[in-house]
Amino acid sequence: MLRFGVLGAGRIGKVHARTIAASGKAKVAYLADALPKAAADLAAEVGARVASVEDIIKAKDVDAILIATPTPFHAEQIEAGSNAGKPVLCEKPVSLSVERIEQCLKVVEKNKTTLMIGFNRRFDPSFAALQKRLRDGAVGSVEMATIISRDPGPPPMDYVKLSGGLFRDMMIHDLDLARFLVGEEFTVVNALGASLVDKAIGAAGDVDTAAVHMQTASGKICVITNSRRATYGYDQRIEVHGSKGMLRAGNIHNTTVELANGEGFREDPILNFFTERYGQAYANEVLTFIDAVTNGKTVAPSGFDGLQAQKLADAATLSWQTGAPVKVS
Ligand SMILES: NC(=O)c1ccc[n+]([C@@H]2O[C@H](COP(=O)([O-])OP(=O)(O)OC[C@H]3O[C@@H](n4cnc5c(N)ncnc54)[C@H](O)[C@@H]3O)[C@@H](O)[C@H]2O)c1
Repeated sequence: MLRFGVLGAGRIGKVHARTIAASGKAKVAYLADALPKAAADLAAEVGARVASVEDIIKAKDVDAILIATPTPFHAEQIEAGSNAGKPVLCEKPVSLSVERIEQCLKVVEKNKTTLMIGFNRRFDPSFAALQKRLRDGAVGSVEMATIISRDPGPPPMDYVKLSGGLFRDMMIHDLDLARFLVGEEFTVVNALGASLVDKAIGAAGDVDTAAVHMQTASGKICVITNSRRATYGYDQRIEVHGSKGMLRAGNIHNTTVELANGEGFREDPILNFFTERYGQAYANEVLTFIDAVTNGKTVAPSGFDGLQAQKLADAATLSWQTGAPVKVS
């Protein structure tokens, strides 16, 4: 039984702690949160004990650390976990600064410890199956990927101001998915953005509507479009076109019930937001980490994947700001 120390008992910390507790292969030994009540409530639910971040990281009866604290704490907590010789599963992003990520990855590399980053979309059953068929050659050589990701509505302004901007906060998931699907590094990024949903987002120096075109050195292209609004729910679709055909994965509806009448055919709404849409993906992600640590397997997505996605997000932000394509090393 792998014994976890979970740092952060907020929205995503709860999701992960519940998966660990239900896994039958691991347990939440300790939980920490800056808010004592948040820690106590979740600890009671999953059968854990409450302790401080520092005590959890050095505890002899903790085998692995799951980091679900706010982004500014990730890099230092990864380093502390690694310095204690513990494998770490950390929520995205490692940091909003590429330099800070590089510094953090050096510590992990020096200690030769395991670090996995929570890019959950790789573990969505449909997206994972699509990527496997791509790698098995179902559509030949990949030529073009299209990723559409729209939130049902914009987050609160307090969140927007601290988020690092749409490209680093929201599109980072799609940038990682693009690398996962295309299987090559992107060398040039071209971005457009606007505040069409809420002018206050534009006034805060951010965008709520964005499109990015990226290309690899061999010429493969990816197009990502993001919006902070979709009147019909959390719109999550991907399509990959190759030399021998096309693979696509669409939205998941609340039920498979369809109404047909003289006005046409009507399906139920799509799953409304990330905890519902990616519930299975979050669970598969944590179970993959447990399996990797227990059985000595390599983890993915790694810290390097976290770094590459952040570089693309920085390039997209710069391209939007300057109106020019940005090269990525
Ligand atoms: N992969 C995904 O789809 C996904 C989804 C949501 C959030 N996230 C990421 O997860 C992280 C947490 O997001 P959230 O939405 O759960 O936030 P949240 O605010 O709901 O939860 C964060 C929790 O951490 C606690 N906290 C704050 N500082 C702390 C510290 N120093 N030590 C211990 N606990 C501390 C807070 O009290 C809070 O309970 C963010 O980095 C975010 O980017 C990822």
